[in-house]
Amino acid sequence: MSKPVTFAICGCGARGLEAYAPYQLTHPEEMKVVAGADVRPERLELLQKRFGVPAGMCFPSDEALLAQPKLADVMIVSTQDRQHVSAALKALDKGYHILLEKPISPDLGQCRALQEKARETGRAVVVCHVLRYTKFYAVLEDLLRRGEIGKIETIDAIEHVAYWHQAHSFVRGNWRNSSETSPMILQKSCHDMDILRWLAGAPCLKVQSFGSLDYFKAENAPQGAAPRCLDGCACKDACPYDAEKIYVTDPRTGIRGRGKGWPCAVLASEPDEDKIYAALRTGPYGRCVFHCDNNVVDHQTVNLEFEGNIHATFTMTAFTQDCRRTIKVTGTLGEIEGDMAKNALTLRRFGRPEETFDLNEEGGQFSGHGGGDFGLMASFCRLIARGGGAGLTGVDASVESHVMALAAEASRLDGGRTIALAGF
Ligand SMILES: NC(=O)c1ccc[n+]([C@@H]2O[C@H](COP(=O)([O-])OP(=O)(O)OC[C@H]3O[C@@H](n4cnc5c(N)ncnc54)[C@H](O)[C@@H]3O)[C@@H](O)[C@H]2O)c1
Repeated sequence: MSKPVTFAICGCGARGLEAYAPYQLTHPEEMKVVAGADVRPERLELLQKRFGVPAGMCFPSDEALLAQPKLADVMIVSTQDRQHVSAALKALDKGYHILLEKPISPDLGQCRALQEKARETGRAVVVCHVLRYTKFYAVLEDLLRRGEIGKIETIDAIEHVAYWHQAHSFVRGNWRNSSETSPMILQKSCHDMDILRWLAGAPCLKVQSFGSLDYFKAENAPQGAAPRCLDGCACKDACPYDAEKIYVTDPRTGIRGRGKGWPCAVLASEPDEDKIYAALRTGPYGRCVFHCDNNVVDHQTVNLEFEGNIHATFTMTAFTQDCRRTIKVTGTLGEIEGDMAKNALTLRRFGRPEETFDLNEEGGQFSGHGGGDFGLMASFCRLIARGGGAGLTGVDASVESHVMALAAEASRLDGGRTIALAGF
């Protein structure tokens, strides 16, 4: 690349500053962050400190950033779910290419408006469906397109959210309430809808869905549960959802073991143990999981029919030990099974010896979402350096996943009615 692609970051939170901007630190010849906006001054301080953005190029809101003339080649829109489209429409009018966090919007009308504007301005609008950029799904898709298992017949995918991740994001945290953000099948699983559509290689025709918020509600609170975990809760020792375990003592998630990164970084910028305890005493992440203002589901299943008689099932469940995805695809000549946590795929062509792909050996240099965060950045920087285009996860492809997710939610709310996507 002759010179780096320049970026303005609208929303310098966990995604903007921890997932995408760090690409600049390892690939300065490809990416340079030159401006940013956030309503939290401490995030703008981090933008200056970590990425060298001058104070004069840091703005206190998306509106203030968008009131400036065009400052960069690209705007990353990484604010919250319902803020994306209005900022992206204005940025397209100013001539920016857009890297847009998912979901585009919980409102299908807004998704369509963005598609229109992308077409009208001819700018790139790439949605952050990071899974497509992982070695795991890229190799799987390649095996399927090469016909290694013949014609695809079924796909079964499971999203293991993990009990602590559910508690963090979908009970106590940012995406707990669909009226403020999005329904969980869109918010968390539009990635999975996108992957199913991509792997099927055919449009989705019908969906049907069941699911509910079954566990994380007041009626399930054990006797003696306090409204906050640190306020003398009698059930603390036995409760796996205890906030002190999740954010302080658990070696996989807490500040003592996992350290300053996600999820602790969501409670405080550059967190330490004192900051985490302060957040648990007064903030949302110290609340009892049975006494929050959450309404999103804790488990949901979706049945899907794709063109060409391909049928798929999808399960999203909070109630797993680890955060991972598993998948099984069957075809007329074989089957493939995969576990994203192991980064391994097993191909069984009928009547022939089994073949295992250990993807850890081949692509270990990228981190975040199984390598997807940096994989996306690498692909996006190349796309923009070449002048733009749809890329692997352009807005038109992404809207298909949103239609699938929103139709699934409509089905769930209507007792599992089968919904044809053509008329949705
Ligand atoms: N692609 C993925 O896999 C993935 C993963 C997690 C989250 N997300 C999505 O990314 C988006 C951001 O999530 P996050 O975890 O970074 O959340 P976050 O809350 O950490 O970041 C959002 C940031 O926007 C800022 N903000 C709020 N209002 C603003 C305004 N008017 N102007 C400028 N900044 C403003 C907030 O202060 C915050 O720093 C969400 O839509 C989420 O669904 C995507």
